[in-house]
Amino acid sequence: MSDNGVPRESPVAVAADSGGTSAPVAQFQSVQRIYRMGDQEVRALDGVDLTFRAGEYWSIVGPSGSGKSTLLNVLGCLDRPSEGTYFLGGEDTGELNDDALSELRSRRLGFIFQSYNLIPQLNVLDNIMVPLLYQSHPPADGEERARELASRVGLGDRLDHRPRELSGGQMQRVAIARSLVNDPDLVLADEATGNLDSQTSMEILDLFDELHSEGKTIVFVTHEASVSERAQRVLVMGDGRVCEVRETARLAQELAT
Ligand SMILES: Nc1ncnc2c1ncn2[C@@H]1O[C@H](COP(=O)(O)OP(=O)(O)OP(=O)(O)O)[C@@H](O)[C@H]1O
Ligand SMILES: [Mg+2]
Repeated sequence: MSDNGVPRESPVAVAADSGGTSAPVAQFQSVQRIYRMGDQEVRALDGVDLTFRAGEYWSIVGPSGSGKSTLLNVLGCLDRPSEGTYFLGGEDTGELNDDALSELRSRRLGFIFQSYNLIPQLNVLDNIMVPLLYQSHPPADGEERARELASRVGLGDRLDHRPRELSGGQMQRVAIARSLVNDPDLVLADEATGNLDSQTSMEILDLFDELHSEGKTIVFVTHEASVSERAQRVLVMGDGRVCEVRETARLAQELAT
């Protein structure tokens, strides 16, 4: 019930798809993620349809508990749908066992977490190379690539540092370099700037912009309205559903130039 006694309708689910012509990178069909706790059921995702296409730049917003992280975790193959289908690069992830899914994830996805998730015992260079450990055929030039990425994110002179010897912004840069070492099709970030000051956040978002201009597909979760406008499209979550999809001024600008 809403405050004035009128029954509140649950949000009408919409499909998130730009309708563009580039190939779908990630596609959800009626995806649900249901947590069962005793006889209670939480519908963290309640019938999500979406298509993210090559080169698109999306942000995801919505109230706390609306399912943003759950959505990103399923997209990142860190979790699986309870119902519905997830196609990643044309492959039905529901058909894959856990090993095959890890391999697919290590080839196609880069994931950036709010809390960085670096391995404390490893230095910067080795942390960046971690995703390559999950590949059955890691590239021969993996270390060279990791060094290049470290330089690119401004940490070329910190390769031997352990995470505890870095600032928060530097740790997040390591995490970004790590997310790119496998040259992923899709880069996912969950509140990547949530723990950083505004100057450092802007630098991280500038890096996302650069990746976008290089053609990467990027999806990030944020609770800050101003940050969400950096993307081309904003997907608004509510109660486990997509309730709105909006194009940003940035997209209009890109289309005009
Ligand atoms: N492991 C879990 N077990 C049970 N319920 C869960 C679990 N993880 C999430 N949930 C529930 O699923 C719903 C969606 O959670 P989710 O973490 O996706 O929200 P969110 O939009 O990312 O929120 P926030 O902005 O606070 O990070 C919430 O109601 C949450 O309590
Ligand atoms: Mg979250």
